Amino acid sequence: MTELPLSGEYLLGPDAALAAQARDLQGCRRCKLCEGRSTIVFGSGSPRADLVVIGEGPGADEDAQGLPFVGRAGQLLTKMLDSVQLTRDEVFITNTVLCRPPGNRNPEADELAACRPFLDAKLGVIQPKVILALGSVATQALLRTKEPIGRLRGKLHQLGDAVLIPTFHPAFLLRNPGQEYRRMAWEDLKLAKREYDARRSR
Ligand code: URA
Repeated sequence: MTELPLSGEYLLGPDAALAAQARDLQGCRRCKLCEGRSTIVFGSGSPRADLVVIGEGPGADEDAQGLPFVGRAGQLLTKMLDSVQLTRDEVFITNTVLCRPPGNRNPEADELAACRPFLDAKLGVIQPKVILALGSVATQALLRTKEPIGRLRGKLHQLGDAVLIPTFHPAFLLRNPGQEYRRMAWEDLKLAKREYDARRSR
């Protein structure tokens, strides 16, 4: 007979399991990002979400508020989700690193590696069916590849039991307002929504 552990996440529902993970991370000093951050930005949304959105790392607004994607890029992300009838409350939004990189630089390999077990633990609790990866940093880190986002997007990638769909980061779309990138992002969002609807009804 397989013995169940007497404590730990197996006995907790997703809400309590995520709350326990967030609590355990308080005061984290596993990488150098702890030196400049004000808050750990754990993530927000539904612990039972079938779709998880993963960005790069918190910016200044997120670091100040302790919530992901609350600045300008976050406002665009909310609109992007809205365009495929998804709300921030029904998905879960998080980042590849949970602490703000200084000056909004890209997270470095050692920082991504230090935070990865906590992202995997979160995905293990939520068990999403679809992951929307925002931008090349998140997509390349999640898929452990160096291929450019232009070649990764537009396709389905498997990550554990979930299908991962890469798209452009909303901050990139704000910096590059051309219609071409927006059109591609819109195609990616529709693809993500199609997969979400199909996998939820299975
Ligand atoms: N950009 C990100 O990648 N994540 C955030 O939470 C905010 C901006």
